[in-house]
Amino acid sequence: MVNGDSVQARMDQQTLDAGPGGAELHLDPRRDSGISAISYRSNSTLTESVQSDNPVFRFVEENGRTYHSYKEGRYPLPNDAREQGRSTVEHHLWRLTLRDKLYLAPINRLNHVLDIGTGTGLWAFELAVRFPNARVIGTDLSPIQPQYIPTNCQFEIDDAEDEWLYRQKFDLIHSRANVFSFQSPETVITSAYSALASNGWLEFKDFVFPFRCDDNSWNGTALQTWNRLLEDCIVRSGRRLYVEEYAQMFHNVGLVNVTERLFIWPISPWPQGPRNEHLRELGRWTRKNLLEGLESLSLMLLTKFGGMSKEEVLQLVQNAKADFWDTKNHVYVQM
Ligand SMILES: C[S@@+](CC[C@H](N)C(=O)[O-])C[C@H]1O[C@@H](n2cnc3c(N)ncnc32)[C@H](O)[C@@H]1O
Repeated sequence: MVNGDSVQARMDQQTLDAGPGGAELHLDPRRDSGISAISYRSNSTLTESVQSDNPVFRFVEENGRTYHSYKEGRYPLPNDAREQGRSTVEHHLWRLTLRDKLYLAPINRLNHVLDIGTGTGLWAFELAVRFPNARVIGTDLSPIQPQYIPTNCQFEIDDAEDEWLYRQKFDLIHSRANVFSFQSPETVITSAYSALASNGWLEFKDFVFPFRCDDNSWNGTALQTWNRLLEDCIVRSGRRLYVEEYAQMFHNVGLVNVTERLFIWPISPWPQGPRNEHLRELGRWTRKNLLEGLESLSLMLLTKFGGMSKEEVLQLVQNAKADFWDTKNHVYVQM
């Protein structure tokens, strides 16, 4: 929660193109570096000409997957239909975990909400439906959000690590699954702090990498090897694993009433006993999520920073996937 308020100026967006069906692409003149902060809204269809004309829609192809082109190379996971499908599964997992809540912050009155690294925009979309009086903005490097959206929802192509120039203050700023997104999460949290309304809330939800196994039952598995190799490559790529530092970062910028909640996602329905049905349910969905996610997480990082060929990565992924089916592997993801 933030105390106090500050003023920021944001220039009006300039409409560059309006498609015949109500699709609009805006180029924000806030920055002088070209195509930063494009927002698009579509009541019907986003026209082909808008899509093909703008470089942000021309995705980078690598190893049979596509990646964002705006700020190319910054984010290591693909943005194609496979990855979007996986993130829909993960969205379901979050809803299961939080018993259908979209956020935990103790706030019901929402005027302005921002979702950074919104991905396919499902969270922003659903929040806009649940709170029709709120204005919800979702931002991302990839234009992969749906075309048909609630009128109180808007998506922008923007880098959350660039300077924030929003004119309005936000009651809730949300970030989910951005563990591999930011080079400097401190910069993002500082910007968010300045963009919060009085008594506004900042909520970050994420997973801790590498996975955990308290009883070493995964020793010698391909899944353990995959975790080690990926961790090495993340570090070699200049990225940091910062999720467990979020609470301290929140304190450091001056946020008060900071609460950290821990959850676990077992990687399969391995937790036993009559009281663990909820964990087993999370385990089944986590397995589904990760059976697809393993390749997304590793292709770029292991080929670029681990010296592995595409075929070697796919073989490792294939071997690691088998370990999800053996419930003797008591592995979980800390959320
Ligand atoms: C794992 S996805 C999470 C998507 C969404 N928050 C969810 O939970 O479904 C991370 C997203 O962050 C986006 N991203 C990465 N770096 C970013 C940045 N610097 N600014 C804005 N978005 C970023 C990626 O393009 C990707 O869509």
